[in-house]
Amino acid sequence: MGEQLTLFETQKKTTKPKVVNVASVPQRSPFRYPGGKTWLVPVIRRWLKQDTNNKHLCEPFVGGGIVSLTAAFENLASKITMIELDEEVASVWEVIINGDTNWLATTILEFDLTIENAKRVLSKNKKSIKEQAFSTILKNRIFHGGIITKGSGLIKNGENGKGIKSRWYAKTLHDRIMAINLVKNKIDFKTGDAFDFLEKNISDKEKYFFIDPPYTKAGKRLYTYFDIDHEKLFKLTSRLSGKYMLTYDDTDEIRRLTDKYNLLYKTIPMRTTHHIQKNEIIISDNFDWWV
Ligand SMILES: C[S@@+](CC[C@H](N)C(=O)[O-])C[C@H]1O[C@@H](n2cnc3c(N)ncnc32)[C@H](O)[C@@H]1O
Repeated sequence: MGEQLTLFETQKKTTKPKVVNVASVPQRSPFRYPGGKTWLVPVIRRWLKQDTNNKHLCEPFVGGGIVSLTAAFENLASKITMIELDEEVASVWEVIINGDTNWLATTILEFDLTIENAKRVLSKNKKSIKEQAFSTILKNRIFHGGIITKGSGLIKNGENGKGIKSRWYAKTLHDRIMAINLVKNKIDFKTGDAFDFLEKNISDKEKYFFIDPPYTKAGKRLYTYFDIDHEKLFKLTSRLSGKYMLTYDDTDEIRRLTDKYNLLYKTIPMRTTHHIQKNEIIISDNFDWWV
C-alpha cells in the first residue's frame, strides 16, 4: 500500500543504496491503493526525464493513478491517458476527469460518517455514476487496507481506536480532488481493457507506457479484476514500439517470462507497510535512464 512504503533505491554505481522516504513524495491520489506505486515515484521521474520531448504517458492499469497524477502535476508529460477496467474504480475517475468533480469533492466534505450512513450509501442498488464514485471512495477509506473486493470488510479498531473514521480525511480528499481538477485538461480517462488499449497502440513510437498489472501472487486478494493473462501481457509489451516500463513481483514465473521474451530488467528492493522487504522487477525497453 502506497502511504508508508519505503524504497531502497540504488543511486550512482559508486554510492551505497539509499533509503528514500515516501513521506517526501506528494500524495495526489484520492485512493488508498493496494499495490500503489507511490514508492516508485523517484524512479518514474527519472524514466520520464530520459529525453526532453513532449510526452504522452499512458497508464493502462491505472488503479489509484499515482504515476499519472504525478506526471500531470510535475509536468513530466504533456498528455496522459488513463485506463481502468474495474467499474467501481473507473467510476471515480469518470466523475473526477470527465464529470462533476465539484459534486464529488463537496459530497465527501459534507458527509456525516457513521456506520448507518455508510451502510446506506454502500447498499443502495442501481447507483448513478456519481453515487457509485462516492460509494467507491467511501468503501476504499473505511474498508480494511483500502481493499474493495467482495471478500473485504470494514476497518474494526483502526488508528487510535477511531474505527471507520481512521482513514476518512474528508478535507484532504476534497482538496486532492479539486487539485486534480486543475490539471485534468491534460488527462484522458477511459473505462476499458488494458490489453485492447495496448494492442491498438502497439506501433505508436511516441507514447510512453507505464504498465502496472495485478501481480501474480497478491492480485487475487487485492483486486476484483486480478485474473489476467500474464504471458499475453509480456508478449504485447515485447512488441511495443514506444517506450515502456512494466513492473512485477520478483517470482520464478516472471523471470521465466522475462527471459522467454528477451526483455531487459532490473530488480529493486522495497519494503511494504508491514515492513516486509521484497524485490520487484522493473522491465523496460532500455535502462540508459536508470542511473
Ligand atoms: C496493481 S493495480 C495498479 C496500481 C497503480 N499503479 C497505483 O499506483 O495505484 C492494477 C489495476 O489494474 C486493474 N485491472 C485489472 N485488469 C485490468 C484490465 N484488463 N484492464 C484495465 N485495468 C485492469 C485493476 O482493477 C487494478 O486497479
